[in-house]
Amino acid sequence: MVDEKTVVDSLRRVIDPDLKTDIVSLGMVKELKVEDGKVQFTLELTTPACPYNKDIEDSARKAVQSIPGVKEVDMKVTARVWSARTLGAGDSLSSVKNVIAVASGKGGVGKTTVAINLACSLARSGAKVGLVDADIYGPMIPKIVNIIQPPRIVANNKVEPARIMLGIKVMSLGLFVDENTAVIWRGPLVASAVRQLLTDAAWGDLDYLIVDLPPGTGDASLTLAQTIPLTGVVIVTTPQAAAAVIAAKALRMFRRLGIPIIGIVENMSYFVCSHCGAESRMFGNSVTEKMASELDAPLLGRIPLMPEVSTNYDKGVPIVVADPKSPASKALNEISRNIAARISILAHESKAKAEKM
Ligand SMILES: Nc1ncnc2c1ncn2[C@@H]1O[C@H](COP(=O)(O)OP(=O)(O)O)[C@@H](O)[C@H]1O
Ligand SMILES: [Mg+2]
Repeated sequence: MVDEKTVVDSLRRVIDPDLKTDIVSLGMVKELKVEDGKVQFTLELTTPACPYNKDIEDSARKAVQSIPGVKEVDMKVTARVWSARTLGAGDSLSSVKNVIAVASGKGGVGKTTVAINLACSLARSGAKVGLVDADIYGPMIPKIVNIIQPPRIVANNKVEPARIMLGIKVMSLGLFVDENTAVIWRGPLVASAVRQLLTDAAWGDLDYLIVDLPPGTGDASLTLAQTIPLTGVVIVTTPQAAAAVIAAKALRMFRRLGIPIIGIVENMSYFVCSHCGAESRMFGNSVTEKMASELDAPLLGRIPLMPEVSTNYDKGVPIVVADPKSPASKALNEISRNIAARISILAHESKAKAEKM
């Protein structure tokens, strides 16, 4: 007769390729029941967006099916996003599992583009997602996505974030300040605006909160690092050597602040012609790979330069939603899956570290 132990032993041979650990040790096998050759269990994946989910599912099912005596396998698949953050006492963002900052060395490299498409991509995979536009001097998000529901004050002076497509919750200074008002605040005011956007919002349960930072390593970045426990930072750069130099500088600063580096995204990597699909490298050979390996940070992916990425902004719909089949969308979706996977790894590492202490 098949018993639970046989099933567990067999599932131990299924390894999560990212975490390099078996699914039983990772606690992904839940509610196991074995009765008269019928095996019932829930497979709890670490994120709905993991690139290997299908493989893990298939391997788990096969592992159980191949046990002699098993007549039926009833496997439910769910996903619970792991949290890589360590929460401080009184953390006002305690219902948010992961906070991901998107940063860059210089402006115009595609930080906001990556942030908004990442939000949409994760939300579409089934995750609960929020987005903070921390670019106080040039809040772009309300201009480039359709606001379905404006923000409103709820109990305790908290603000219910605005809603955009896919149920994504958004906070941006641009929702509260007239577009034509030039923001000329300096250090302390910028810091307090960023803090308020994060902590005065009633976020509710979120799997991922994405923070679109202003370029560089100024007040907003420092405030963010000091205000809340960040899961990690994604650095956006372009293929030119000059961009890589300041991206590397930003990366080192985040590292010095003790913030884990999720990885590097290279934007505008090559040009894809909308008519014939031909690819060309406008900036010559990229230096990003070399920089990533020198800094020991993963390269999460490359996004092609395509006019559609930009023109879709005018319609208020990011490219991954407007045209999911475009090469840029494919690249952005892959980057999102890699980010989700890296977060599961960081969570696994911090859990392992906590267990050792
Ligand atoms: N891959 C891309 N292809 C075409 N245009 C892009 C791409 N990435 C960004 N852009 C455009 O470049 C400009 C700057 O991008 P943005 O995301 O606002 O940069 P940042 O937030 O770093 O300042 C925007 O007009 C955006 O539409
Ligand atoms: Mg921006």
